[in-house]
Amino acid sequence: MTVASPEKLAEALDSVGYLADDGIATAGFLALRLGRPLFCEGEPGTGKTSLALGLAEALDMPLIRLQCHEGIDAAQALYEWDFPRQLLHLRALEASGNGHLDVETAEQSLYTERFLLSRPLLKALQTAPCVLLIDEIDRADDEFEAFLLQLLDENAVTIPEFGEVRAEHPPLVVLTSNRTREVHDALKRRCLYHWLEHPGLGREIEILRRKVPHLGEALATQVATAVHRLREMELLKPPGVAESIDWAQALLALGKSELDAAVAARTLGSVLKYSEDLDRVRAKLDKLLA
Ligand SMILES: Nc1ncnc2c1ncn2[C@@H]1O[C@H](COP(=O)(O)OP(=O)(O)OP(=O)(O)O)[C@@H](O)[C@H]1O
Ligand SMILES: [Mg+2]
Repeated sequence: MTVASPEKLAEALDSVGYLADDGIATAGFLALRLGRPLFCEGEPGTGKTSLALGLAEALDMPLIRLQCHEGIDAAQALYEWDFPRQLLHLRALEASGNGHLDVETAEQSLYTERFLLSRPLLKALQTAPCVLLIDEIDRADDEFEAFLLQLLDENAVTIPEFGEVRAEHPPLVVLTSNRTREVHDALKRRCLYHWLEHPGLGREIEILRRKVPHLGEALATQVATAVHRLREMELLKPPGVAESIDWAQALLALGKSELDAAVAARTLGSVLKYSEDLDRVRAKLDKLLA
């Protein structure tokens, strides 16, 4: 699907429930138009993962997701040979050949697509056009980052026993990071970069109203305002949009239509996840809701 402008992309994202500001819409548009990966960095809960999900839905493309973690390697990310099935195949060949097995032919027949298990990166090359989400790349090791470079440069990978797999249409690649460590320049250089901020007050109210059915404007405004104040308090873990949504849902579940100090004190656990943060905020509840 082609998109004419950042504004059109923002509209398409809006129609699937993702509210993009100008910066996000422009970054997404350019990634699409220039065929470059989009590297999204930002605090937890600023909408990085859901941007990739939203892009896939808005552009009507399949989403292929690779969740990174410490120790992730090519076998988990790219492909594996289906060893048990290869063995079975070999046994079957032996049995049917009455002891006359042509070793070279047998070997060749083992390294065919039948026995190739595609993991997300390979699947994305085979499936494209699609959105490939490489989520939380900062959790992976340096070597894994280096391994991604060829794929991002060429939209192709080489499998030694099989040959090259090249995408017919380059996937739209979205990488995300919480910046628990710096990602290498070599990787960043290949990408367009966008730093996601927490949404402004107006956009957060709008997000809450979209994501939490039956949430009135007044309560949405109170929750978003309080969350914005919490983000200015230098807490150990400032709340993201996910926490605002949780808080609004908790308040509705308790039948509340207003956020006052008593109910805020009871429900703060929806939005703060460290006891130090809870203690600090409980001592200043009046300011939070003023
Ligand atoms: N712009 C937005 N429009 C609609 N929903 C949003 C937006 N930003 C965040 N959200 C909602 O906030 C929640 C958290 O977003 P998401 O999981 O994408 O954050 P994240 O940046 O990937 O966080 P983490 O770093 O913890 O993985 C989701 O429920 C998502 O739907
Ligand atoms: Mg995420």
